Amino acid sequence: MLNKTRREIMGAVSDYIDAIPKSITLYDIDVTPTKSRVHPNDVSLRTTIGPKKLNVPILGAPMTDVTGPMLAKALSVMGGCGILYRHPDVAVQLGWLADVLEHRWCMVQNPVSLKQTDRIDAAERILKHHGYSTIPVKDENGCLVGVLFTRDVAFKWHREDTVSKWMTPLAKLKTAIVGTRFTEIRERLLNEQDCSVLPVVDDSAQLHGMYFMKDVVHADPSENGGKPLVGIAVGVGEEDVERAMTAIRMGAGIVVIDSSHGDSHDVVLQAERLVTLSAPIGNVAIVAGNVADVDGGGYLRLAETGVHAVKVGIGSGSICTTTGQTGAGVGMVTAIRACIEARKKSNVRPAIIADGGINVPGDAVKALLVGADAVMAGKWLVAASESHSAIENGVHEGRVRYRGMASREAIAERMSDRYGKKKNAPEGVSGWVHHRGPLSQWLPEDMELVRGGMAHTGSADIGCLHRYGALCGAINRYTSLGRMQADVRVETN
Ligand code: XMP
Repeated sequence: MLNKTRREIMGAVSDYIDAIPKSITLYDIDVTPTKSRVHPNDVSLRTTIGPKKLNVPILGAPMTDVTGPMLAKALSVMGGCGILYRHPDVAVQLGWLADVLEHRWCMVQNPVSLKQTDRIDAAERILKHHGYSTIPVKDENGCLVGVLFTRDVAFKWHREDTVSKWMTPLAKLKTAIVGTRFTEIRERLLNEQDCSVLPVVDDSAQLHGMYFMKDVVHADPSENGGKPLVGIAVGVGEEDVERAMTAIRMGAGIVVIDSSHGDSHDVVLQAERLVTLSAPIGNVAIVAGNVADVDGGGYLRLAETGVHAVKVGIGSGSICTTTGQTGAGVGMVTAIRACIEARKKSNVRPAIIADGGINVPGDAVKALLVGADAVMAGKWLVAASESHSAIENGVHEGRVRYRGMASREAIAERMSDRYGKKKNAPEGVSGWVHHRGPLSQWLPEDMELVRGGMAHTGSADIGCLHRYGALCGAINRYTSLGRMQADVRVETN
């Protein structure tokens, strides 16, 4: 009898232990390469979040150190979307939104210019000082009369001549009329002969700005009705409804209800409100999160509110200490797959945004492969010269400061109520990230690596990648010793 009871107890314990789901992170897995006919250059990174189409599947995290107006502008040019962090002062956040929406992709407004009567030697000094190869020439009324190129100042014998004698005159220049859509400008700069620069003029030849081929070559903005695609983060309070609706009326493309625990009454309620109120205006994606569980329940509860995307990830961020400090967290692979499986049984199918721990191109490939439609990044993007930290705090010995939104520093400054206004105990840390320079100098390369990862799986687009990811064996797991061997094992500097 005693033996039987003992066996029953041990059996129950084993059942419980056996039923514990595995929590698999992005670092546990790798993508299994397969036969491919796809070249990385032919891979499309386009993705969709509700009514919004992104050319690259990357969103700037709404964190104080990450997404301010400068990063949002830079990301919009590259085809991604920055989510402006929830500044405590609504007017500041909405002011940034207005600023980003007015941003003319790659157009240099008020370019340095010359007068026709300037001398060539003076023009040469100006070109050298700014490191420019092209300068517009204006008359006294601000009208464009020509453009001077470095080749025009290359000879020594005409230095005392006036600029008007050596510039390319307006009649011989290619120009664009003010209001021309960026896609047309880009098309012309990339395809027309003798068109490395396009001055933008109105009917009376007033100069409004200049486009340069070198700036637009990597630019590939996402679709937002001709305006930069930019989003804002809001909270769950009543006052946040007004903040969100004003932003939507202004032209924000994405509104993110940002919470560290999205599977909660407040977030569901806020999602319902914003979905209902924004519906008559339309053309905006409502996103809520974050969720992470093992049965996709959190995803479904938010999906039922009608949101266009759910943000997935608790405990996986690079500055995040939630799992260590509170014990809560689910590996990103498990959390995403739980949403995918739950979605199969649902009529509502919002997109999935993987948020936290997507720090290099390979992380993005893995997150997309297991089922994410886009990724959100903090550490990855804070490295840019345009990140809010680089702009506000500067670059120190080649590094940029990066604070978790629940770090002691952030809490002290009350920079966000993502974790609740009464929060005192930190669930994040503050650190440093290597500065990588302007986004346009390195994000295209990183995206090339994402395309490369997708090409290894024979996937020409994210839809194909999802189908591959659903196959048995599409991902593989190293043992922890194997992982050590897979990582770089030489001193790299
Ligand atoms: P990455 O890895 O991209 O992560 O730097 C950014 C995401 O981490 C979340 N976040 C935090 N999580 N404590 C946390 O537990 C924090 O202080 C914290 N700050 C940000 C957030 O989802 C962000 O997008």
